[in-house]
Amino acid sequence: MAVFAFRTLGSTNAECKNPCYDHGDVVVAREQTAGRGQRGNRWSSSAGLNLTFSVVLKPTFLAAREQFLLSEAVALALHDTLGELGIASRIKWTNDIYVADKKICGILIEHEVTQQGSLARTIVGIGLNINQKEFEEWVPNPTSLALLTGKEHRLEDVFEKLYDHLMARYEQLQSDKEGLHRLYNSLLYRLGEQHTYALPSGERFEGIIRGVEAEGALVVEWASTGQEAKYLFKEVEFII
Ligand code: BTN
Repeated sequence: MAVFAFRTLGSTNAECKNPCYDHGDVVVAREQTAGRGQRGNRWSSSAGLNLTFSVVLKPTFLAAREQFLLSEAVALALHDTLGELGIASRIKWTNDIYVADKKICGILIEHEVTQQGSLARTIVGIGLNINQKEFEEWVPNPTSLALLTGKEHRLEDVFEKLYDHLMARYEQLQSDKEGLHRLYNSLLYRLGEQHTYALPSGERFEGIIRGVEAEGALVVEWASTGQEAKYLFKEVEFII
């Protein structure tokens, strides 16, 4: 494992596409000029205040259809790290990390798949808000470690804890997929509570999250009918 630290990069995920980076290597940037989020969004992070980095993994033991388990492992590592720092977090499907109703961390995972249908190389991009206290107004529900704890944190210290937790959950992924999946489900944001959700059509409904399937579909019970429906990424939106 080696850490490659840059002052400025477009995006650490984009940098990691370079095959020179091997399993376990980390690319970290003090500042990203084109930080990427999920759903084609930007990732906004003030220079030097937060952790913005990507890790390269070679999870060749996973079939492409099992890829959601890897994002579960990453989300759990974030939950572990924040727990070690005294912060109780939940995982907002698919893999945002929330503290109460605020987002502290975003994760962007990109895979390369072999012709045989297994994962060849994966880039795990993590944006964890640490010392930033003010955010651009378009950023949805942001918070940071400093806002939650009332003090500043050394980025290197948080990174070291997080990297260790990432590797520990990655090992668990190889030995205990069921345990990992069960734990992910138990830590879901809004699990078992009734809240409002929106469909791509704009229709809103009251629903209760019942869990996530191993391949990643969110299971929501419609409060009006008691029927369960399954949603894939982008097929349902949380109203917060
Ligand atoms: C999200 O939209 O919630 C995902 C955000 C992921 C941001 C991180 S910051 C480091 C890495 N490099 C990027 O360009 N994006 C990810």
